[in-house]
Amino acid sequence: PLQCDRKRRFRVRKSLGRSRPLQLCSCTHVHQADRDTHSLAEQSYPVPREYFTRVQNHHFKDMEQYKRLYERSIQQPEEFWSDMAKQVLSWKQLWENQVCSYNFDIEKGPIFCEWFKGGKLNACYNCVDRHVEAGYGDQVAYYAEGNEESADIRSYTYRELLDSIERLASALKVRGVKKGDVVAIYMPNIPELAIAMLACARIGAVHSVVFGGFSAESLANRLIDAKSRILITCDGYRRGEKIVALKAVADAAAELARENMGYELVQHKIVYQKLDPKQNFVSMESHMDEWWHEVLSTAKPHCDIEWMDAEDALFVLYTSGSTGRPKGIVHTTGGYLLYAAITHRYAFNYHPGDVYFCTADCGWITGHSYVVYGPLVNRATQVIFEGVPTYPDATRLWKISAKYNVNQLYTAPTLIRSLMRYGEAYVKNSQRDSLTLLATVGEPINPEAWKWFSREVGENRCPIVDTWWQTETGGHMILPPPVQGFIQKPGSAGVPFFGIVPVVVNEKGEELSGECEGYLCIKKPWPGMLRTVLGDHSRMESTYFKPFRGFYMSGDGCKRDKDGYYWLTGRVDDVINVSGHRIGTAEVESALIAHGSVAEAAVVPVPHDIKGQGIYAYVTLRQGEEPSEELRKALKHAVREHIGAICTPDVIHWAPALPKTRSGKIMRRILRKIAELGPKVTPSDLGDTSTLSEPQVVELLVSYHGK
Ligand code: WT7
Repeated sequence: PLQCDRKRRFRVRKSLGRSRPLQLCSCTHVHQADRDTHSLAEQSYPVPREYFTRVQNHHFKDMEQYKRLYERSIQQPEEFWSDMAKQVLSWKQLWENQVCSYNFDIEKGPIFCEWFKGGKLNACYNCVDRHVEAGYGDQVAYYAEGNEESADIRSYTYRELLDSIERLASALKVRGVKKGDVVAIYMPNIPELAIAMLACARIGAVHSVVFGGFSAESLANRLIDAKSRILITCDGYRRGEKIVALKAVADAAAELARENMGYELVQHKIVYQKLDPKQNFVSMESHMDEWWHEVLSTAKPHCDIEWMDAEDALFVLYTSGSTGRPKGIVHTTGGYLLYAAITHRYAFNYHPGDVYFCTADCGWITGHSYVVYGPLVNRATQVIFEGVPTYPDATRLWKISAKYNVNQLYTAPTLIRSLMRYGEAYVKNSQRDSLTLLATVGEPINPEAWKWFSREVGENRCPIVDTWWQTETGGHMILPPPVQGFIQKPGSAGVPFFGIVPVVVNEKGEELSGECEGYLCIKKPWPGMLRTVLGDHSRMESTYFKPFRGFYMSGDGCKRDKDGYYWLTGRVDDVINVSGHRIGTAEVESALIAHGSVAEAAVVPVPHDIKGQGIYAYVTLRQGEEPSEELRKALKHAVREHIGAICTPDVIHWAPALPKTRSGKIMRRILRKIAELGPKVTPSDLGDTSTLSEPQVVELLVSYHGK
């Protein structure tokens, strides 16, 4: 096998290669290609028996019962979803007659999908009010674990949550927010972020949460796209050793929006105070900036609920694709809420009283569905964590789990891999007796990380629930149910959730059957699916429904094995999955090109030990510009400034020219191979290169590797 020339930093892979020799190299890195060499169904682990003796409550007796319900969800979707919706949610008024109507065939007319149309409900009421009304006001909704480990526990009961939500909601109304307006939220991962989201939901405003790691420019683009006149933010926060000056970025974004629009777009900023004002000065522009605590203390304590149609928008969340600007994915109230709730309930076997901890930030869809909406509908008690898992050291997550007696832990493969690097001692240092179920999301979990998670963290007594889904799907789509009799296969996300009909199609869009490999699509609508792209419905149609007629195209490749398990093989477009976050190549490229010295840029994924994929940028400089270390730094800085730190390229490869077809299309396939294999790349690795307009470019590019 070829040797990987990257430094051996730690051993994560012992059994990844397994029975087949490694295709690429025998180093310790987690390569995408390793994942592709799974010999399917080779290893299987029944859900541990101990799980059923330790955990008393189970939603399903066994896999038979689960399968029967799945069958019903497919055979009689109207009845199934109607029952679920009545059982799980509280409705002000039930839907008219049809549970669902839709069109997935672009040739037949506009793509649409509606669930529970005419039904009236409110997401905030379902998440908070009704639990307080039912006498659970004193139950803790959130334990807030800050960046620093401290003895005193900050928490919100459901009643306290409601009090803050009502006050903030009244304040938003006073500041002119009406049903359908988009309110931007740019905050660290603290309970007040959830409060801000729910306050919007209460009055029918659509929230647009922007992850706190995004730059001023990214925030400004989102403010402009959704015409947000109100921004809820925070002075700043500590993340590990660093201080993030969020308010300054928010100000810069508001300024950019003003320049772009020609008028003051953002008219109010409500600023939550996290930092010590004696040590950290933030400028508050008197006419539009107000402190959260002052706003809440002077606000009316009660705020009426706005009853929404099931199909009214609940939120917009931006996500990257391979082309153009991020898309504002729109989710609606009824279907989304139901789907988030029942996936949370069944995937994690959640019952009220359990303590659940999801490490995701509310800036991403995982936080929306599994820190806010799903768990709250289910009256969960949760831990919300603001810090990083390695601060002050790598025992942090296990200490948190012990401190709050966490039962279900939901995290990401990248995080597991980053903790594996520190060794088992950090895990063993802490008590993990309370943990009953472990789950992951964001990318395929490589079997080695799966086994480590199961063995070292779960002591072989916890199911591992690897959930495949997307911003667009609203909730889990494919997962291994933690049910008696289910056989888990490390590296496979398992089987479809209720109501989900996945199909695997070939290049021509033909549905494949049995054991197969191809593009993962979804054939039937489900309540949690996106309804549109904000302001651009045709983009929704062309992105998801044009590639294969009649199907929702996920953008992922997958294999289905003989037992009907799905094995995700990664994105089939030019989206890069960095630590479970979707990075659009086009965005990174335009940030690079915006730097005056760059003539052309092409960005591709490269396998990365911890992050799963890293960002590898080929850069062609303008005439007269010389490659240098300073320039490299400046380019990385430019990307950070334009988009955000998570998009910083890992590698900048100087490219005298890029490999193109005669029609001028960059051959990314070749760039990916060179990025992956470096100088060891051979012509046979590159496949068909006959369409290259200048074949010598490849050799030249390779010779610049590492320069
Ligand atoms: C993309 C969606 C869903 C919340 C987090 C990311 C990849 C996600 C898995 C998994 C294999 C996964 C896919 C998908 N992905 N979870 N369990 N196994 N791949 O949401 O930013 O919308 O990204 O993440 O490629 O398309 P997102």
